[in-house]
Amino acid sequence: MKILAIETSCDETGIASIEVKNGKKLVFKILSNQLASQVKVHRKYGGVVPRLAKREHQQNLPILLNKALKESKLFRAKPKIDAIAVTHGPGLEPSLWVGVNFAKTLALAWKLPLVAINHLEAHIFSFIIHHENINPKELFPFLALIVSGGHTELIYSPSLLKYKLLGETLDDAAGEAFDKAARLLGFPYPGGPELAKLATKGSPTSYHFPRPMINSKDLNFSFAGLKTAFLYKIQSLKTINYPPERLRSFSRAGKLKTDLSASFEQAIIDVLVKKTIKAIRKHNPRSFIIGGGVTANDLLRKTLKEKIEKEFPKINLFFPKKEFTTDNAVMIAVAAYFHALKKDFIKPKKLKAQANLKL
Ligand code: KG4
Ligand code: ZN
Repeated sequence: MKILAIETSCDETGIASIEVKNGKKLVFKILSNQLASQVKVHRKYGGVVPRLAKREHQQNLPILLNKALKESKLFRAKPKIDAIAVTHGPGLEPSLWVGVNFAKTLALAWKLPLVAINHLEAHIFSFIIHHENINPKELFPFLALIVSGGHTELIYSPSLLKYKLLGETLDDAAGEAFDKAARLLGFPYPGGPELAKLATKGSPTSYHFPRPMINSKDLNFSFAGLKTAFLYKIQSLKTINYPPERLRSFSRAGKLKTDLSASFEQAIIDVLVKKTIKAIRKHNPRSFIIGGGVTANDLLRKTLKEKIEKEFPKINLFFPKKEFTTDNAVMIAVAAYFHALKKDFIKPKKLKAQANLKL
């Protein structure tokens, strides 16, 4: 089966095509993977501006489609594709509509079935791209930790395409907290990866930051308080150690910044890991999956792996390659394959963008 997928939920425009061979082994081959990042467009505003994101997606989609079809050599009068897939939520509504309308047009023009994909489900499936030959018996039931710029969720899946939300953030997502803290350290949006890079050189015990809800009975998260604590810490450092005349040097204050970054990163990771362990203990899944941009974080990956392998040696761990943790269209195509197998198609007329879509 060949699937062409479109992703426009936030600020990355993605078009990818994959070929799935379902013989003795389940094999996913990436035929094309086109991404146009809008980071530079939004950077000067400190975050994603929905109106600009929509404009960029509209400009980028036809160009990327052309490139994707050329790259995959699928193009004839009608491309050799079996289905069109698109993210219909959750995300920024104006951005989502661009992808949805584009996908509808292609599905109608080429008379192809259309698959609507939940962006979070696609993050869950992003590990499969590099874990071919997977035996469903090894996978289910699974627990997934999805951590991105917009979401922090623990999801349980008893069987294929069935999900139960166990916990989520009550305010900011972990990626949002990373980006806001990074901004206070002078990094442009999205500064999470830069903060993580600095953190590798700092000491995580230099400053104490709160670990919100770490001991709460439920599996929910909260990161708004941590972000505020970070802001207050920086303000107090600026007035105590960094009085106004030295304030400008704050952007260059090497050790201070690396220590702040390491301490902040550690606080987020402690909460994510503790809640994950709690969820595993409670729900006893066969496998554990991670996905979303923040799961590119090396310390998070390492800590989860070490702690889970030690406490639950029998559990199967499935981590996506780092390049597929952030938004891309390949993961949309992979998720779409499983829906297409079940003939879970949607009529173009019925397809809508849903900014708050739940799994
Ligand atoms: O999944 P994603 O590309 O977009 C959403 O669906 O939100 O995630 C982007 C988020 C950003 O907040 C970015 O700062 C964060 O992932 N991120 C990281 C790292 N790499 C990306 N956060 C911490 N450490 C990283 N290495
Ligand atoms: Zn995402």
